[in-house]
Parts: sequence; C-alpha cells; structure tokens
Amino acid sequence: MKALKIWITGASGMLGKDLQALAVSRGHRVFPTDRELDITDAAPVSSFLAAHEPDYAVNAAAYTAVDLAETETELNEKVNALGPKVLGECCARAQIPLLHISTDYVLSGEAPQPLLPDALFAPVNAYGKAKARGEVFLKESGAESWILRTAWLYGIHGKNFVKTMLSLMKTRDEVRVVNDQFGNPTWTCDLARAVLQILENGSHFGTYHFSGEGITSWFEFALKIREFALELGLLTRKVSVIGIPSSEYPTPARRPHWSALSKEKLKETFGISIPLWETSLFEYLKSEAERGEI
Ligand SMILES: NC(=O)c1ccc[n+]([C@@H]2O[C@H](COP(=O)([O-])OP(=O)(O)OC[C@H]3O[C@@H](n4cnc5c(N)ncnc54)[C@H](OP(=O)(O)O)[C@@H]3O)[C@@H](O)[C@H]2O)c1
Repeated sequence: MKALKIWITGASGMLGKDLQALAVSRGHRVFPTDRELDITDAAPVSSFLAAHEPDYAVNAAAYTAVDLAETETELNEKVNALGPKVLGECCARAQIPLLHISTDYVLSGEAPQPLLPDALFAPVNAYGKAKARGEVFLKESGAESWILRTAWLYGIHGKNFVKTMLSLMKTRDEVRVVNDQFGNPTWTCDLARAVLQILENGSHFGTYHFSGEGITSWFEFALKIREFALELGLLTRKVSVIGIPSSEYPTPARRPHWSALSKEKLKETFGISIPLWETSLFEYLKSEAERGEI
C-alpha cells in the first residue's frame, strides 16, 4: 500500500488523536494541526497546503459543545459551517481531496428505519444546523470530498458519555438516563480505521455514514457500560440505572429521538466491516482498564 501524506485538522481532539496514531501505524505521513491553524482562516490554510502538499486533508476539527452551541451561536457557526467552506475552497484550489467529519445530528427521523446518507437535513439543534450548513458549503466549494457522518462518539482522548457514566456510577447511588433517544454508539478507533480505508481507496467521493453496528438508547448504552465495567473491574459496585424520558432531563439543545444511521452505502462502496457497538465498547473499556486512568 502506498504511504499517504495526510493533513489532519482537529488533531488534538478525541477523534484526531486516535486518527493520527492509527495513520502513523499504517505507515502514512501525518501533518497534524489544531487550534494553531484556524480552519476558518483561508490565508494560513492555503499556505499550509502549498507548503506541505498533502495527498488528502481530513477535517476532524469542530465545535462540539452541543448544548453551549445554542448560545455560542457565532463560534458554532464559524467553526462548523464556515470551517468546512474555507477548507473546501482552499482544497479545491490546491486540488487536494478533503474528508470532512459530520454528525448524525444533521438528521432526525422515525423508528425503525436507519437514516440514509441522502435523507433530507432535519437538524433539531443549533449544532446540527451549523454542521448541515457546513456540509452544503463544502459541496458548493468544488472540492473533491467525502462527507462522513458519525454519531455518539467515545474514545480515550476526550470527554464523552462513557466516561461521564463511569464517573457518575462511581460516585452516585443511582444514575438516571434517557431511554427515548436511539442511535449508534461509535468508538473513535473504529471511525479512524474507516477514515483511513476511505483515503487508501481514494475514490467514490460523496456522503457516507459510519457508526457502530446496532441500534440502542442512551439508557441501554449505560446498562452495557455498567455490565462491562463491573466485569473489567472498572466499577466495584452495581449502581442502580434508571431509564427516564427526555422530558425529565431537559437540556439547552434538543436531541433527535431517532438518529440511527444506515451504513450500507459505505460498506458496499469501500468493503468496510463495522463491529457491533457492544464489541467495540468492550474493547474500549478493556483498553481503559489496562491504562488504569479511569
Ligand atoms: N463527539 C461526538 O459525540 C460526535 C458525534 C458525532 C459527530 N462528531 C463529529 O466528529 C468530529 C470529531 O469530534 P471530536 O469529538 O473528536 O471533537 P473534539 O474532541 O471536540 O475535537 C475537535 C478539535 O478541533 C479543535 N478546533 C476547534 N475549533 C477549531 C478551529 N477553528 N480550527 C482548528 N481546530 C479547531 C478543537 O480545539 P478546542 O478543544 O480547543 O476547541 C479540538 O481539538 C467532529 O466533526 C464532530 O462534529 C462528534
């Protein structure tokens, strides 16, 4: 396999760090950047592309504070909508294909059908709306691009639902979790592998979905976290986990009740296999248990 030169933005983030490590382990050359190279600033972005001439760019940079995005509207819009526009325009000029990470929250639907990549946008919060605009801007930029939507992400390097649950389960007698929002938990390491498989393929630009296989609710996700954490010694007592409706857990940003993603197009196009979300959750928790930091 040819070694690729890959520019990764948001390289200090939860996905960015795992993506960097995996790309290097597969023999690729990585140019990681984060805040020091603002993706919304065209001049430095163009200079960077001219100086490094990567084969591909991956945009893992984003503003990911879903609740804060309701009030930090300017920053949300800037990073999540203008960012992909600027990157798209610069990559188009430099003729460098761009893989952009987007989110299930640009969509919302009804059970039981997983949402297809060509479903109409239906974001229910400011973060989803800005990410949807980012996708549109990128498509209009003329860059060769893959838009890869993912969902319910967790990994070693960032704040996420799994870590929050483990921390609550260690300190509380009871944890209440919403049981009426359904989607696909996704491990950053699985997503990173899919990103690299797409780049290594190098063709079939378009919009795709990648998330863990299987559909669950946040409540069932929490039950699995508890079960595996007890098995791996990350928890020592079985705290009570109670399912509640979203109406009993108000948040600044609304969340879709159904954002399960269909991955058929990605699997058929690139031959990518996707582990069951439970399998990846166990692998992730095992790696955390070995690290001994949570
Ligand atoms: N986390 C999830 O559950 C989830 C779900 C679905 C989709 N996604 C998508 O997956 C991708 C990766 O998410 P993640 O959770 O790994 O995100 P993350 O941990 O928040 O990482 C994003 C990185 O981008 C940086 N960044 C912010 N603004 C920037 C700018 N203007 N220029 C350059 N870098 C900037 C951030 O720096 P600071 O930390 O200093 O802000 C951070 O290091 C994003 O596109 C996100 O929308 C995430």
